[in-house]
Amino acid sequence: MAAAVLVAAVCGLVAGAWWMTRSWRRPSEAMHGIPGTMGWPVVGETFAFIAAFSNPSGILSFMRDRQKRFGKVFKTYVLGRTTVFMTGREAAKILLSGKDGVVSLNLFYTGKQVLGPTSLLTTNGDEHRRLRRLIAHPLSVDALKKHFSFINALAIQTLSSWSSGRRILVLNEASSFTLKVIANMLVSLEPEGEEQEKFRANFKVISSSFASLPLKLPGTAFHEGLKARNRMYAMLDDVIARRRASADAGAGHDDFLQMLLMKHARGSGGEDDEEKLTDAQLKDNILTLLVAGHDTTTAGLTWLVKFLGENPDVLQKLREEHMGIKEELGGEEHLRWSDMNNMPYTNKVMNETLRRATILPWYSRKAAQDFTIDGYQVEKGTSVNLDVVSIHHDATVFADPEKFNPDRFDSTLKPYSFLGFGSGPRMCPGMSLAKLEICVFVHHLVCRYDWKPMEEDNSVQPTLVRMPKNKYPILATAL
Ligand code: HEM
Repeated sequence: MAAAVLVAAVCGLVAGAWWMTRSWRRPSEAMHGIPGTMGWPVVGETFAFIAAFSNPSGILSFMRDRQKRFGKVFKTYVLGRTTVFMTGREAAKILLSGKDGVVSLNLFYTGKQVLGPTSLLTTNGDEHRRLRRLIAHPLSVDALKKHFSFINALAIQTLSSWSSGRRILVLNEASSFTLKVIANMLVSLEPEGEEQEKFRANFKVISSSFASLPLKLPGTAFHEGLKARNRMYAMLDDVIARRRASADAGAGHDDFLQMLLMKHARGSGGEDDEEKLTDAQLKDNILTLLVAGHDTTTAGLTWLVKFLGENPDVLQKLREEHMGIKEELGGEEHLRWSDMNNMPYTNKVMNETLRRATILPWYSRKAAQDFTIDGYQVEKGTSVNLDVVSIHHDATVFADPEKFNPDRFDSTLKPYSFLGFGSGPRMCPGMSLAKLEICVFVHHLVCRYDWKPMEEDNSVQPTLVRMPKNKYPILATAL
């Protein structure tokens, strides 16, 4: 057994080195004009980049250091890619507006393989626009109303277990809450039971394979991720088959899958069949919503609870807003849909959380054609990353940027200065859902508990989505 593990580890290392050597390329002639350093042969500046991740300030220190030396546009070699980093509102406008098809999305190879060729995240141009249209309705505010009662009940149930005086890892609680919400919304999965457990287990493996080394050897994260993806798809095939076989074609279900099955599945009449989703497209995009929506909302909620814990004056003001709503409910614990329009301060706290934490520190694109920025020529095919963390900490826009100050969102911000949910054609389609989940959870949390962190550690996990490394352990006390 030990020998097998050793052989697998050696194979992994050899294949990893082979992959990095293969992908290591000196920049082309045109790229020579862009300042920056490519670091060490083969690994480039990957180690410095990953080390910066774990800092409380994340890759901000990596960015600041290079921006001081090279300016707002610089090249480097990180995570197996020659990459140009850019920052500033002008760069954001060019890269995010996608004007004239200048750039396309640039996902890691492993991410593309796991999500499949017809995922929203792997398509560009017309096909991307078509998929966006198809998922827009099930994620719209109107469609979310149907899931409001479930989200409310689940938040109350999740928080009920906090009163036991146990050590609570906020990240785990947020992860369980957000996964149950999305699984129920997408395919009506019950929040407890064997199916939920299987779903959770498969999702965890898929999630950790997403940005792994592209080694398809047994035991590697990538290989396991593809296997878990196949199990998840088999589960979806089963649900789709059962719904199609039932007398009412699954009409009793009121979820995302059903909406797409009724409206878009081929052979259902109505619109031209060519315009509709195949089962493969349906599955790729259900998985895409899970992957894109789960870690981000989990991280957002966890950072928000952490920032509240560190800023008692903000917590006090937020609690006043929610106690006001609670009073109006007159003893009823469940929120009403109309209460969602009554949380202006909560919305500011959410925005400030996404600014300060910048849970997706850069947005990755590929130049779809040659273009010029800040006087530099960027060649077609180049990986271009928008450094969002620097935009969110620009002191000329956000005075005293390290301070957690939700009231800064009282003033109208300059375009492209706050990019918590992105902007342009790739702007987050799950924004309303994420906000709804966070507002409901926060309402029940602040009306019910006070909490104290159980350790002081501001390190951050070295993952694509920034999260507190220690999962933010707290002790909650009932109010
Ligand atoms: C606090 C929670 C969330 C944050 C901060 C967030 C942030 C973002 C950002 C910044 C982007 C754009 C990235 C880019 O331009 O490269 C994005 C895209 C996306 N998000 Fe979210 N997101 C959140 C929750 C969700 C949820 C709940 C869902 C779905 C259920 C979701 C689904 C997606 C998808 C599918 C995309 C890709 C859109 C496309 O390429 O057209 N997100 N998100």
